[in-house]
Amino acid sequence: MDIITNIDEMQQRCLAARAQGKRLAFVPTMGYLHEGHLSLLRAARDAGDILVLSIFVNPTQFGVGEDFDSYPRDLDRDAEMACSVGTDWLFAPRASAMYPKGYATWVDVEGLTGNLCGASRPGHFRGVTTVVCKLFGIVQPHVAFFGQKDFQQLAVIRRMSADLNLPVEVRGLPIVREADGLAMSSRNVNLSPAQRRQALALFAGIRLAAAQVAAGERDSRRVLAAVRERIQQEPEATVDYIQICHDETLTDLETIDRHALLLLAVRVGTTRLIDNHHLGEEIPES
Ligand code: PAF
Repeated sequence: MDIITNIDEMQQRCLAARAQGKRLAFVPTMGYLHEGHLSLLRAARDAGDILVLSIFVNPTQFGVGEDFDSYPRDLDRDAEMACSVGTDWLFAPRASAMYPKGYATWVDVEGLTGNLCGASRPGHFRGVTTVVCKLFGIVQPHVAFFGQKDFQQLAVIRRMSADLNLPVEVRGLPIVREADGLAMSSRNVNLSPAQRRQALALFAGIRLAAAQVAAGERDSRRVLAAVRERIQQEPEATVDYIQICHDETLTDLETIDRHALLLLAVRVGTTRLIDNHHLGEEIPES
């Protein structure tokens, strides 16, 4: 596996590979890899001739007072894990090269970014879509893989790719959970043991909501109230949002139907965790 930090070198390699008829599969990440990332890398390994992983903690998607500085980083550890699943090229650019002096171009997706994380983290998705668009321009992938834990991010990136006619197939893969149900996230490492236990409230809330829907409940407000009550039992948990939204438009749903998606963002201590679950999966079309 080669580690490339230079943007021009990365782009030249990718263009040359494409010219030779090679199919490029790409997994963009912010590093501190876990089993969720590895599931993306394994799928990408099967989907292309050359597997490219990027690791870049993108400063422009973090707001003032957010966890850019404390976001976990360990390139040596990541390189070992990436190599173990057959990554060919690990791209790790420097922030000063991605955003040089005079940088002035931003990609902003409207509509889908107005709710959920877009509302609670102003400017976040502008940073995400800008960096993903840049990475797509550098790596020129045929196919790119993202996790469904960041459900809104995936929807926004799909919208961007369609709207800008980017020749990249965007694929989303299911959430990977720890054995006890906690959704895997690089940020989990920042939880103390007590917070790690409290973080299970997100999955407990999801299970509670799914059980209510399975028992016939269709009123979003009642389900949301029950989930909120469960999560607020944890002393260090602060709800950022708990919402039930339409899985395509990401607007709030009053009545749970087959499009209903439960999405949560909860701070446990200072660590912000997100999770989601498709409540409508079992509901037949009415
Ligand atoms: O999901 C992430 O890790 C990041 O938001 C991404 C897509 C790599 C952009 O920085």
